[in-house]
Amino acid sequence: MFSEPPAFVVRAPGRVNLIGEHTDYNDGFVLPMAIDRAIWIALRPRPDREVHVHSLDFNETAVFHLDRLFKETAHWLEYPKGVAWALQNDGYQLAGWEGVMAGDIPKGAGLSSSAALELATARAFIAVTNQLWDPAAMALLCQKAENQWVGVNCGIMDQMISAAGQEGHALLIDCRTLDTKAVPLPVGTAVVVLDTNTRRGLVDSAYNERRAQCDEASRFFGVPYLRDVSITDFLSSEDQLAPLIRQRARHVVTENIRVLNAVTAMLNGDAAMLGTLMNQSHLSLRDDFEVSSHELNVMVELAQAQPGCYGARMTGAGFGGCAVALVRVDTPALSGDCRSRTEAAVTFTQTITAAYTQATGLTPAIYVCQPAAGASVIVNREP
Ligand code: GLA
Repeated sequence: MFSEPPAFVVRAPGRVNLIGEHTDYNDGFVLPMAIDRAIWIALRPRPDREVHVHSLDFNETAVFHLDRLFKETAHWLEYPKGVAWALQNDGYQLAGWEGVMAGDIPKGAGLSSSAALELATARAFIAVTNQLWDPAAMALLCQKAENQWVGVNCGIMDQMISAAGQEGHALLIDCRTLDTKAVPLPVGTAVVVLDTNTRRGLVDSAYNERRAQCDEASRFFGVPYLRDVSITDFLSSEDQLAPLIRQRARHVVTENIRVLNAVTAMLNGDAAMLGTLMNQSHLSLRDDFEVSSHELNVMVELAQAQPGCYGARMTGAGFGGCAVALVRVDTPALSGDCRSRTEAAVTFTQTITAAYTQATGLTPAIYVCQPAAGASVIVNREP
């Protein structure tokens, strides 16, 4: 595209959330991991203030000028533009660059391809201007781009894990302080992502409605966020809450506890306990928070019924997209290269694929994922 080799190659990963769903915008706890699927940008600086990006996935080149940023209609370029806007707005001095971008995170599946695109762009801007990379600050600015430029009212989880993920680990994130703690996956387990291949159009309105219901519950308890409601507080006055608001609050209050218990289970290498907590999380999301779907429930139940599955749950915002399962690794092969087709993975995948297709008429996509590092520069040829 640009006749010369790139000066930098940057990448930012997608994510899967092990546990802690719909807790981030309640100032609570989440336990996601960055996955070994990412967006990469190969780039070099330009002497002017233009950004030229060629997307291999969309087979399209798009251009914007750092001094003339205008919102346009839904297009992949709005993410890089939004990030440029948020960084400049915060005082970062940016410079132009040109590059080629590609990724292998399925789009719209709930694996945070948007957050990965935002963080990859931020990593590119910081690399070409040789500034210090601050993962939490970048996550907040990328969230701002998503909230205020793209117009999606998400919490901080997706940007934070794409920015700050740790290889081999899930990351406990305190969404109030943005403190993080890397927690290793229990030895002998693999994380399997199960894409239902359903995409729901109403996610945004249902998501905003859940946020409003959580805010209503926190007002009832007289606290800034549901994070501040202990289980004792909840139990002592839950009967004064309207039934729906009570359900929503019960999910968030108990989910925060499950996240912290999951961390303890992981630190103890207790895969069975982690799996049990994932199963409980699914029931809470299905019955109290009501963000699951028929296909997600079918997928989760099929996964849970497999020998060697410790637990499974829907993951991400819900209403479609992916489930996540924690699976025992009997063979060294499953714990190796995630893309390698091992015997155990093949059996797990084939059984679930056949049963899911029979139950829903849909073809699922199933990936064994390795916990990856957050956004990084993988090639730097600058002197
Ligand atoms: C989406 C949002 C996140 C989070 C999850 C639900 O992924 O982007 O901020 O709220 O839903 O846990």
